[in-house]
Amino acid sequence: MRGGDAGRTMHRKLDHIRIAIDSRVEHDAPSLLGEVELVHRALPEADLDSVRLETRFLGKRLAAPLMITGMTGGHSVAEKINCVLAEAAAEAGVAMGVGSQRAAIENPSLASTFASARRCGGGELVLVANIGAPQLVKGYSVEHVVRAVEMIDADAVAVHLNAAQEAFQPEGDTDYSGVLEALERLAGELPVPVIVKETGHGIGYEAALALRAAGIRYLDVSGVGGTSWVRVEMYRALEAGRVALAEAARVYSSWGIPTAQAVVEARWAAPDACIIASGGVRSGLDAAKALALGADLAGAALPFIRAYAEAGREGVSRLLDAFRLELRAALFLTGSRSVEELRRAPLLVGPLLESRLRQRGVDLGLYLRRLRGLSRSC
Ligand SMILES: Cc1cc2nc3c(=O)[nH]c(=O)nc-3n(C[C@H](O)[C@H](O)[C@H](O)COP(=O)(O)O)c2cc1C
Repeated sequence: MRGGDAGRTMHRKLDHIRIAIDSRVEHDAPSLLGEVELVHRALPEADLDSVRLETRFLGKRLAAPLMITGMTGGHSVAEKINCVLAEAAAEAGVAMGVGSQRAAIENPSLASTFASARRCGGGELVLVANIGAPQLVKGYSVEHVVRAVEMIDADAVAVHLNAAQEAFQPEGDTDYSGVLEALERLAGELPVPVIVKETGHGIGYEAALALRAAGIRYLDVSGVGGTSWVRVEMYRALEAGRVALAEAARVYSSWGIPTAQAVVEARWAAPDACIIASGGVRSGLDAAKALALGADLAGAALPFIRAYAEAGREGVSRLLDAFRLELRAALFLTGSRSVEELRRAPLLVGPLLESRLRQRGVDLGLYLRRLRGLSRSC
């Protein structure tokens, strides 16, 4: 990367963090997790204290099926943030991803801004590397991705899909042709699993089906309901005086597939996939609903960067504690003694989500029956 490019990438990354913390960057549309209700069990026949949240992910043990999804790196500020998030994630026994490592792949002096996550989180932390899908068709070889994995001793690499964001970014990488083939090659050659993740606009049935056929078994659906990257770009365009671009971004700011719908569509398309639900997951109860609906893990990003901005390490740990407490309560109150049992807990689905799924060809009754018969592994 040329000096100017590296500088621009760094500035863009800092802009993103600043805007995400300070501005109203969330979709106007909901995740539709609010349409999902877990059925209360008046006789749980379990002890709250002995409810087990443990699960396995990428060959390691998690104390809870939760993840702080990829956000940052590439700058000294990010080095500190990755360290703090990793310490808190390791202490709570949840997984974590770093942000796009493109900057450090092209400028190795920035590697420590990502590697701080492994250094601070320790060997047991489930840590996920990150690169952008457009890079796979713009000259990145498997060796480049291996570099990202080795940089943080990662347990997997997440390849992010952000077509919606790139479409409204003046310097956007908008060429997605050949990405699927590149992903298939990568999954066949890389020594660690490839997670394909969206970034807040959702993976639906067609994309999940194509990805699974290409050999991808890990999907983070990252749907509508939380951070909208188009909205982030809207603020950047406004700041740069690009009025027409800002207006176009505003029009598309809630574009995409709501998280609850994306979980079902992805599971319907890829029954044996390991599915992470993110995008607007804002509590342990949201996480519990996503798990009962078909996800294996639930993740969030924005709440953790904001908790960090507000109260540093303590803020992040407090939020992780709250998520775990709320998730534990959901298990207890549905009579589930383990995450495995929660995945089979009865649930009610509201008319909006039900009708959207019907229009997408999903028979919800059949889906839920099939789901309960599936043995899922991550
Ligand atoms: C400040 C910030 C930076 C992000 N950077 C990345 C990134 O570099 N790579 C990536 O795959 N996702 C990135 N994301 C997207 C998140 O991982 C997640 O998919 C998305 O924000 C939806 O989750 P949320 O609603 O909980 O924020 C970022 C999110 C935030 C808030």
